[in-house]
Amino acid sequence: MNREGASQPAGRRTHGDLPDHDDHWRDAKWRSGVRRSLLSWFNRHARDLPWRHDPTPYRVWVSEIMLQQTQVATVIGYYQRFLQAFPTVQHLADADLQQLLSLWEGLGYYRRARSLKAAAERIVSQHGGVFPESFDDVIALPGIGRYTAGAILSIASDQKLPIVEGNTQRVFSRWIALRMPASESSGTKLLWQVAAAMLPKERPGTFNQAAMELGALVCSPNQPDCEHCPVAKFCSARNSGLQDVIPGRVSRLQYEDRTEYALVVRQSSSNGRSAKYLVRSLPEGGRWAGLWDFPRTMDQHYESIEAATGGLARQHGLSLSAGEHLTTIRHAVTRFRIQLHVHEAQWQGPRAKAMQPWRWLTLKQIESLPMNVTARQITKLLRQKPS
Ligand code: ADE
Repeated sequence: MNREGASQPAGRRTHGDLPDHDDHWRDAKWRSGVRRSLLSWFNRHARDLPWRHDPTPYRVWVSEIMLQQTQVATVIGYYQRFLQAFPTVQHLADADLQQLLSLWEGLGYYRRARSLKAAAERIVSQHGGVFPESFDDVIALPGIGRYTAGAILSIASDQKLPIVEGNTQRVFSRWIALRMPASESSGTKLLWQVAAAMLPKERPGTFNQAAMELGALVCSPNQPDCEHCPVAKFCSARNSGLQDVIPGRVSRLQYEDRTEYALVVRQSSSNGRSAKYLVRSLPEGGRWAGLWDFPRTMDQHYESIEAATGGLARQHGLSLSAGEHLTTIRHAVTRFRIQLHVHEAQWQGPRAKAMQPWRWLTLKQIESLPMNVTARQITKLLRQKPS
């Protein structure tokens, strides 16, 4: 297939034809895998923080404002004293400014304290002292931007609103291997889209907290602890060793062109049932770990489809011979620009039983599994192709 005809699953292209991120976040299976792993980790590792008990909009608001420029460890004491002094919006609206500023002393960025009081006054005068529940009303309050409004309404009221702040900006940038500064407007826009797409229907506020917690505890700015990360296998930055340079601009020099091969090995049924295809779940520690794929070369270089088929057969103890060219998919995995030649291959052995980790599965079965982006494209092609 020529370049124009080849598919382009990776992100929008910049600098000629370099992708600026990986696009697997558009795959619903990938998103549900990430959510499941992240939420189960959060269940076990969430810190016990005072604002997480009884998370009313008021309590979440105060905590998020304090956390904007200050570490959690510092915030805890300030938060507790603040809530004792001003337990409700009404108390805060009526607060003596000097008392408020004294309580704030040491936290810095005093404008935050003044905005809190101004917003509380507005809530009393315009909303009868009840913290508003509509996004437009909340974002109209002094000191509250898109992130804070989303955090308050998702955490306190489980409204499906995304948040991108320091932690989640870094976490999402790494998940999609964003190769430009997250602060560039197209990067920011994309991260908000990712944040929105990631939200589950149930308990989106828990997802938002879990993503921030991951950024705070594991996916740190320097030396992220990928060894203990619950979503490492889904993370594009991690899968290509770019976790230390993302977020940030990844220079063109780090790109490498590669040719790889994938095989569609089909076993027709003798009794009219659907044909089955040879697939496996990719091993831990490598590219796309845990996702399903057709036989495919990755790190070894081969000059031809025959050599690649022979290599795959030897490596995995499979009996294969190369067949017809089906398509070529151009895609990017972080620093690799890959031309993936997809060929049919014939199974040479006796009628095959699956040998671990390989399985013979129907297209329908394969489609229900989490797959990498090229395997998903190959299944789509097979669906369309008359057999
Ligand atoms: N940083 C800012 N807000 C946070 C939250 N709600 N949970 C964890 N880290 C945060």
